[in-house]
Amino acid sequence: MKRFFAALTTAALAATLTSCGSSSSKKDGDDPTGKTIGVSLPNENLDRWNSDGQFLKEKFEEAGYKVVLKYASGDVTRQNNDLVSMITDKVDLLLVAAVDGQALANTLDSAKEADIPIVAYDRLINDTDAITYYVSFDNYGVGKLQANFIKDQLKLDSADKPCTIEFVSGDSLDPNAKFFFDGAYSTLASYIDSGKLNVLSDRKTFELTATKDWLSDNAKADMKKLLDANYPSGTTLDAVLCANDSTALGVTQALDENYKGSNVPIITGQDGDDANLKNIIDGKQAMTVYKNLHDEASVTFEVCKTILSGKTPAAALASELPYEVAFDSETYNNGVKYVQSYILTPYVITKDNMQLLVNTGMFRWDSSQKYVESITGTNAASATETASEANS
Ligand code: BGC
Repeated sequence: MKRFFAALTTAALAATLTSCGSSSSKKDGDDPTGKTIGVSLPNENLDRWNSDGQFLKEKFEEAGYKVVLKYASGDVTRQNNDLVSMITDKVDLLLVAAVDGQALANTLDSAKEADIPIVAYDRLINDTDAITYYVSFDNYGVGKLQANFIKDQLKLDSADKPCTIEFVSGDSLDPNAKFFFDGAYSTLASYIDSGKLNVLSDRKTFELTATKDWLSDNAKADMKKLLDANYPSGTTLDAVLCANDSTALGVTQALDENYKGSNVPIITGQDGDDANLKNIIDGKQAMTVYKNLHDEASVTFEVCKTILSGKTPAAALASELPYEVAFDSETYNNGVKYVQSYILTPYVITKDNMQLLVNTGMFRWDSSQKYVESITGTNAASATETASEANS
């Protein structure tokens, strides 16, 4: 159905492009004047994508580019339509974080035909050679950080009795979600195989653990059922490896309502959403993996700027940038080619190192000095300046 729709809109797009002339007048050179970046992000319901949108818009507009920013509300059809209209309007570059990494190939092929470079933002896009670059974090590494945290907390190498764990993964259409799961599961597989770690639900694959649309409510409903079926009174659940903060939030609520044990299971997360940072301080979630979105947006900006000035960003760009970022052209195969990638490094946040978030300039201690919260809107820019002044 999705593919059918994509084919339809792509046909309409091809007609439009033919009728208005298929190639836009390309404006090469360093001057950003008159160049427009089309940014298509998956949804607005998470702190992280709001921050991405804000940072990307600010970065490009400060440099003199125009930005068309659209959120798809988690709807692949809507994202496809957004992209079609951006291509019809002849944007100069497309920056896309796909709702469904498999569903945009036809539309993006049309963008390529219209000579519009495409950068896959945060999520890889499969089945098309139209992607020029990919900028993201080490997503397999995110899963490894979560799993190693659990391994250390449960002292799996020295524990004298078996522990229990459950996995809660992300949306099955998001290619990142599979990377997170694979990184996590591969780290714990030997403990599961040897019986040191038991998965009482027997949900041991990505498909069985996926959470539709990454939604907290779906994670909560799944976990409630899982607890009722596998963790009666007297059966302890030691850890839940949640792929990100929205799933962790739902799992925490399910545990509050349906878990009969007296321990607080170790819950992992990812993103550093406000509600989860609060839960970490309150002892309901153990950690989150933080990915500095300002750095991700900044690296993306540099890659796009280089492309738009008619040059080729390659390995050299990564070494020139003041961020922890690696150039990788051998790992990220989207089914058609190895996509040249810029990969940033995630790190673990617990209640003991939250100051690291504050040091980024994107978070602050709240008025009670107990919790850390993100700084949004115009405060973000001034806080970043304050932080960099303080660091210089
Ligand atoms: C992103 C995560 C985010 C998740 C849900 C993933 O592709 O990398 O940071 O939590 O999508 O939106």
